[in-house]
Amino acid sequence: MRGLVVLVTLACFATAQHQALIDYLERRLLAIEDRISLWHEQTTRYASELRELKQQMVSQLENLDKEKEALRMNLDGVGTRVDRVERELDYLETQNGAQPCVDVDDKLIEQQVTLVKEKQKAQYLKLSDCSDMISSIKAMKILKRVGGQKGMWTKDTSRASGKVYIFNGTDEDTIHEFATIQDFTRSQGMSLSNNLKLPSAWKGTGHVVYKNNVYYINQGEEITVVKYDTRNNSVTDSAVFPVQDHVPVYGLTPETVMDLAVDEEGLWAIYATRQNERHISLAKMDTSSLDIEQMWDTNCPRENAEAAFVICGTLYVAYNTKQPGRSRVQCVFDVNGMVTNEEAPLVYFPKRYGSHSSLKYNPQEQLLYAWDDGYQILYKLIMKKKLEI
Ligand SMILES: *[C@@H]1O[C@H](CO)[C@@H](O)[C@H](O)[C@H]1NC(C)=O
Ligand SMILES: *[C@@H]1O[C@H](CO)[C@@H](O)[C@H](O)[C@H]1NC(C)=O
Repeated sequence: MRGLVVLVTLACFATAQHQALIDYLERRLLAIEDRISLWHEQTTRYASELRELKQQMVSQLENLDKEKEALRMNLDGVGTRVDRVERELDYLETQNGAQPCVDVDDKLIEQQVTLVKEKQKAQYLKLSDCSDMISSIKAMKILKRVGGQKGMWTKDTSRASGKVYIFNGTDEDTIHEFATIQDFTRSQGMSLSNNLKLPSAWKGTGHVVYKNNVYYINQGEEITVVKYDTRNNSVTDSAVFPVQDHVPVYGLTPETVMDLAVDEEGLWAIYATRQNERHISLAKMDTSSLDIEQMWDTNCPRENAEAAFVICGTLYVAYNTKQPGRSRVQCVFDVNGMVTNEEAPLVYFPKRYGSHSSLKYNPQEQLLYAWDDGYQILYKLIMKKKLEI
């Protein structure tokens, strides 16, 4: 009996225990269900939020696409406008749109240049009737070979006299006078000449004969220009040339410290100074008084110069090399500024022998009397007008 009670009790106890377990499990299940539903809720919310976000993104992307398209269309529009502008510019250019301005400028410049040149011409014509410049050398004629390697010869550069004068060498006191050029060419050596013994020695190749007067360079302490009248064999005048140093005027003709020249306008002195040592200087002299009227420092170098002459107020300097080649007029200086080196033609001398120790211009004949290695040569010049507007 007692055993049964225990059993029942045990059974009761077991039942109670079982019930408790079930309750516990139910509670747990409920809690889990609650959590699951909470998760579910949250997941749904996340999902919807994600969807919303995606929708926003999509719509924003669509907007971006639309803006991009609009931008592309704008760019296309700008591109076509640029193309059109370029085509219009091209068209305008082909239609000489830009050229007339340039033409007008050129014409203006031409007019101004012409005006300036006409002004210069007017000024120049007041100073002188002569406006010739060398164009080229037309011909040469070798007349004779008398005398030494160096020297000079010239005809009296006045219309009336036809006399020819020979300065043989570079340091003498006698000159040879021929009545005509025919006498000179016919003469055996100096046989047909009248020998003139000058009152003092002449030096170099820088002398001239003008209107029966010999203008010669005497070189002692000073450089003196002596004017000697051939009709009564007397010194009419003399003048000390105001240069301290005896600098040879031409690099290749060192015996000549000063060169005289006659042109259409009168007497010129071509010389050198220590102050302007690298270049040739020029002075205008009065033929009767030997006064110096004006002096210029030219841009013509002394180096490799062999001789020079003056035509219508323009100095022409002939250059060569120490190993003689063809000499050429390579520097000009116009006292009136009308001929520039750029404008002047490069004048080449024809075949030659050694070196031009002198080149003397005769304005009446437009001939150059040249002394080349003892040969007496004439060069016939072709002239042109300084201004050809
Ligand atoms: C010319 O001068 C040279 C020296 O320079 C001399 O030898 C020659 O004899 C002279 N000739 C005449 C014809 O005077
Ligand atoms: C030489 O002649 C010139 C001009 O004919 C004259 O001026 C000069 O006085 C004369 N000289 C002599 C010394 O007669």
